[in-house]
Amino acid sequence: MRILMTGLLIGGLLTACGGDEAPAPAPTTPEVKAPEPVEPVAPAAPEFNAEATFKTTCAPCHGEGGAGDGAAAAALNPKPANFNDPAFWAERDDAHIHKVIKEGGASVGKSPLMAPWGGQFNDEQIDQLVAYLKTTFKPAE
Ligand code: HEC
Repeated sequence: MRILMTGLLIGGLLTACGGDEAPAPAPTTPEVKAPEPVEPVAPAAPEFNAEATFKTTCAPCHGEGGAGDGAAAAALNPKPANFNDPAFWAERDDAHIHKVIKEGGASVGKSPLMAPWGGQFNDEQIDQLVAYLKTTFKPAE
């Protein structure tokens, strides 16, 4: 009898213990990774294109062919210079052309209708415009 009791007791204890599960390990916080910093991509400065600039900005007065016959030229007096005329180039050097474009016609005693473009284009860009005018319109000698 005693053995049976003990057996039951032990059995009961075992059962109790068996059901006593070890506490679940505290859930580990999933490691939150900071997102990789994204390199800010600076928008590339649009490439200056003398030809495109001349066609959009200067041609309305000067004409695509540089003859001074742009659509707006009809209303101008004096008319824009004819860049195809050898005489035009004979009387003007690069520094003069640069100055006219940068500071306007009035800066060299010409018409103020030739506006100063220095606020819009830097010296390097104006040099490119001068080069464009020469290579495109200046008649071969
Ligand atoms: C609103 C019309 C107009 C626009 C736009 C214009 N010009 Fe002129 N430009 C003139 C006129 C008018 C003259 C002639 C001035 C004169 O002979 O008194 C002139 C003259 C010139 C001359 C010759 C100056 C000289 O010594 O005789 C150059 C070079 C010139 N322009 C370049 C440019 C360039 C480059 C642009 C564009 C960035 C431009 N122009 C835009 C009207 C314009």
